[in-house]
Amino acid sequence: MISTILNIHCEQPFLSKIAISDTEKVYHELISKTGKGNDFIGWLDLPETTTPVQLAEIICTAGQVVALAEVIVVVGIGGSYLGARAVVEALQHPFKALLPNNKTPLLLFAGNSMGEDYHQALINVLDSKDYAVIVISKSGTTTEPAIAFRILKEHCEKKYGKSGARKRIVAITDEKKGALKKLSTEENYKTFVIPDDVGGRYSVLTPVGLLPIACAGINIEKLLSGAQKMRSILLKNNRFKENIAMQYALSRYLMYKEGKKIELVVAYEPQLFFFIEWFKQLFGESDGKENKGVFPAGAIFSTDLHSLGQYIQEGERHLFETVLSVEKVSSHLPIPFDSNDLDGLNYLQQKTIHEINLVAEEGTRLAHLSGNVPNISIVIPEISEDTLGELIYFFEFSCALGGYLLNVNPFDQPGVEAYKSNMFRLLGKKLK
Ligand code: PA5
Repeated sequence: MISTILNIHCEQPFLSKIAISDTEKVYHELISKTGKGNDFIGWLDLPETTTPVQLAEIICTAGQVVALAEVIVVVGIGGSYLGARAVVEALQHPFKALLPNNKTPLLLFAGNSMGEDYHQALINVLDSKDYAVIVISKSGTTTEPAIAFRILKEHCEKKYGKSGARKRIVAITDEKKGALKKLSTEENYKTFVIPDDVGGRYSVLTPVGLLPIACAGINIEKLLSGAQKMRSILLKNNRFKENIAMQYALSRYLMYKEGKKIELVVAYEPQLFFFIEWFKQLFGESDGKENKGVFPAGAIFSTDLHSLGQYIQEGERHLFETVLSVEKVSSHLPIPFDSNDLDGLNYLQQKTIHEINLVAEEGTRLAHLSGNVPNISIVIPEISEDTLGELIYFFEFSCALGGYLLNVNPFDQPGVEAYKSNMFRLLGKKLK
């Protein structure tokens, strides 16, 4: 039984038989691997094709790295960063750094910006911590992680010596090409391969995501089995009526056609912040081309209702909302009774924070709906490895369908090169 539920709350007079049959058509293109960019559809089968031997190697390497380190620095950007961070932040203790008996190292991230102060501060921290580095780059040539890794490599070698550093560095990159591959071979680093047919933003279920996630003490087998469950449901149900990815992809597409150009993805649980960041990259980089595409935005409610709420309710009507709704949380924190009731909260006594949060969610949904912000909710029973695996696969699949509905290639990112070539020209890089 799949646990993710899709609810769509919007006027859909425009949902026609043609739109449904177009969606079923692109669905068949996707699963038969005959659509645009079909050399990058390896992610479709990852939950099935990842073998127990591959998984065991990832878990074993994670164990070796964890045994050496209080801190693991994960170096990467975009698709080589966000998937791991999304899962780790969603599942780990929010104050892990302050826990007295931490069994797994703290994951820190580098190379996802060129903030000099950030990287200097990291180096300062690493002076007094035992650490390891996981460096991830599919192309092996991306400037931001390459800069961070050069600095970390030098620091690590100074601190532990060449051979000590070698034990603490793991590289995840292409099987054959790229500067990182060359460097890893030369330095004899432990290396994992990113499959050729899986693009960066679809790579969270490869070693790119799985190794850092395993290092954080999270069960990657359960994550994959969640994805596997979603995969079998989506592949089995080839009719629009029964397929939640088709329903979601078409709803987004039709809203876009109706002028709802921005999708605000919302969660009411703050630990899903980075999951939304992952979503933004997945959809933004897949859809946004040929002057088309829904703009993916994100918010955490109720936090952002106190900053963006006014705009969402009454600003320009170009938004629709997708809510990641969580039915159950693991804590139980009821509002205590206070005999003075000076804050006037006794009417909420014995209600838990989560119960109140769910009411805020329903009240907001109704308010936004009446303000002409259509609303899709994706309901999961709880935040767990299993449900995150389901969501990852669901969004990847829906994203690919959405790209095909827009008639773009959802697996390339030609536009990302524009800033890079300007930056290289301005920096005076010699182009080979
Ligand atoms: O989805 C993509 O392909 C990109 O966002 C990449 O993940 C990102 O640019 C990082 O690239 P690389 O892994 O080659 O360093």
